Amino acid sequence: KIFSLDLGGISTVVLNGYDVVKECLVHQSEIFADRPCLPLFKKMTKMGVSIQTKYLRTFRLHFNHTGVGRTCFTFKILKEIMKMKDGVNRIIFGVFVLLGLITNAVSNITNLIIFGERFTYEDTDFQHMIELFSENVELAASASVFLYNAFPWIGLLPFGKHQQLFRNAAVVYDFLSRLIEKASLNRKPQLPQHFVDAYLDEMDQGKNDPSSTFSKENLIFSVGELIIAGTETTTNVLRWAILFMALYPNIQGQVQKEIDLIMGPNGKPSWDHKCKMPYTEAVLHEVLRFCNIVPLGIFHATSEDAVVRGYSIPKGTTVITNLYSVHFDEKYWRDPEIFYPERFLDSNGYFSKKEALVPFSLGRRHCLGEQLARMEMFLFFTALLQRFHLHFPHELVPDLKPRLGMTLQPQPFLICVERR
Ligand code: HEM
Repeated sequence: KIFSLDLGGISTVVLNGYDVVKECLVHQSEIFADRPCLPLFKKMTKMGVSIQTKYLRTFRLHFNHTGVGRTCFTFKILKEIMKMKDGVNRIIFGVFVLLGLITNAVSNITNLIIFGERFTYEDTDFQHMIELFSENVELAASASVFLYNAFPWIGLLPFGKHQQLFRNAAVVYDFLSRLIEKASLNRKPQLPQHFVDAYLDEMDQGKNDPSSTFSKENLIFSVGELIIAGTETTTNVLRWAILFMALYPNIQGQVQKEIDLIMGPNGKPSWDHKCKMPYTEAVLHEVLRFCNIVPLGIFHATSEDAVVRGYSIPKGTTVITNLYSVHFDEKYWRDPEIFYPERFLDSNGYFSKKEALVPFSLGRRHCLGEQLARMEMFLFFTALLQRFHLHFPHELVPDLKPRLGMTLQPQPFLICVERR
């Protein structure tokens, strides 16, 4: 349930199964809420720590201020869904890779929050940036980058995947810096229109405080982290959900039956429909459990010495929360290796929450975008299935083995989309 690893001098503890993850992240929440200071993060952010706590406060405030994740925000998501449906319609009756369209649509929700604007599906520069980001999420979990964390002098070698990661990061940095510049052109101080404005306001307030970490450079890193946190995750949930619907046409049919009954074949999907659609909810929850989008969470670190189940964990230890093991923990899930949405329904067919489903993690550092992600998943998923039937071309089932990275994503696959 708990074991330690020495990752080339970085002392690390891995937590497995729901009970021990909860014991650390919930019962000892304060102690396990730090982030490790790994050489990779140091190199990438010059701060030493990824996901900085200070900007999270700004982000949280901005979320509350603009209603992100609340019902009033759904109309923005629905507007983007209309554009996505138009995009699908244009290539209808063809076989195509849905990935690009879904990534664009999902990232536009995050773009609205960060920059106050969306990017068109034809904007190849923005798409290229997202591709580089996505590649980096994969590279960050490569052996070469693990080695770099253990032996940073490897960075001097001119080859290796870590070098590719640094090159990608440099291109992304320049691109983001131009986007931020553009977004702040019409800024009115103390009247933030988006996250960039809100951050610049905080930066102004802290300009006489030498300890302030708000800076143009950190803004670029923060924006980058938010784009990737908001895009890579939700996009992959939707891609897995589409894949499983094509794989199990009977499950797809049941979701569509529920959509037709509650939303109607032409009605506008709404967040309020969710509580009347237990089967659809169960399917999305099973996708989150089975597909383990962020299998090892984001690494934590201990801020003080801790004791867990009799083991001493010193201050500064890197902690890996194995969320994959939680979702396949046999104490909480019967036949975990089977994709079975009904496990989230009670005997009366009502949706039944499960304590050991923690795709957004637990405790003080749990996902900040959870509510937004849940809305996006429900609205995008139902809007697609309301209008389209999904199947694999020539019934060719793609490889179901995930691509390994910080996130688990499906291998690229083709899908046929037919209007219902
Ligand atoms: C299905 C979609 C998503 C999944 C599965 C997911 C999952 C996670 C997980 C596992 C963590 C790590 C928590 C920990 O360290 O214990 C995390 C952190 C985070 N997520 Fe998400 N996430 C999703 C969508 C989003 C979205 C849409 C946003 C924002 C636009 C977002 C923003 C963040 C941020 C800012 C953090 C860092 C929180 C902190 O360090 O305190 N996520 N997410």
